[in-house]
Amino acid sequence: MELRFSTWQEVGRYLQDSKAIVIPIGSTEQHGPNGLIGTDALCPEALALELGKQADALIAPTISVGMAQHHLAFAGSITLLPSTLILVIRDTVNSLIQHGFERFYFLNGHGGNIATVHAAFSEIYAQASMGMQPDKYSNVRCKLKNWWEAEGVMAQSKELFGEADGSHATCGEVSLTQYAYPDSIKTAEMDPPIAPTGPIYDAADYRRRVPDGRIGSNPSLANPEAGKALFETALKGIISDYTRFATAKN
Ligand code: NI
Repeated sequence: MELRFSTWQEVGRYLQDSKAIVIPIGSTEQHGPNGLIGTDALCPEALALELGKQADALIAPTISVGMAQHHLAFAGSITLLPSTLILVIRDTVNSLIQHGFERFYFLNGHGGNIATVHAAFSEIYAQASMGMQPDKYSNVRCKLKNWWEAEGVMAQSKELFGEADGSHATCGEVSLTQYAYPDSIKTAEMDPPIAPTGPIYDAADYRRRVPDGRIGSNPSLANPEAGKALFETALKGIISDYTRFATAKN
């Protein structure tokens, strides 16, 4: 069930059975020569929509712009400052708390969001801890799940691509978008085949270190068949993880 295609009465009925909601969160940032700029939002969204169908979960609109300051030297990338993203997450959760939601499952597609999402969770919990909000805030639980950490996904990526999977513009994530959006498959030469790795500072520094945007990957190996296999593994792991979270008493 998708929030954007529901009526308020339908949401009210859903709340009689479940207090949980899934919020896909991603990024809008360059993903190397053959990766889509929307990759990090498209992957968790595609998985969440299927999770919604198979686990009767309510899926919120995707937070498609994340914390991607280091990608800004590449055309098309958009970032929120960490402080802005914290407020986006806090306000989204606070809005949904007003309706009775208590379990917030953030399905994430972007490593650069992790620190900020956890900081946002602390801001949310602090509202109860510091007595700024009524008692119902003490029942609130938030969880961040990175789709690539769903059970079995990393092992499968390693099996499919070995070291060439890399850590940004990975073969796995590019494959997943190729499976989910076959009309948007791009091809490009990779030079060198496996991109360099290194620390991440600001955008100009990042571009100097990895001129085509990849980190440690060779996404020319990406293919929709691998994407299908990874999608199915990830979905299975996410369904059981979400179900445990949504039904836990506290
Ligand atoms: Ni990515």
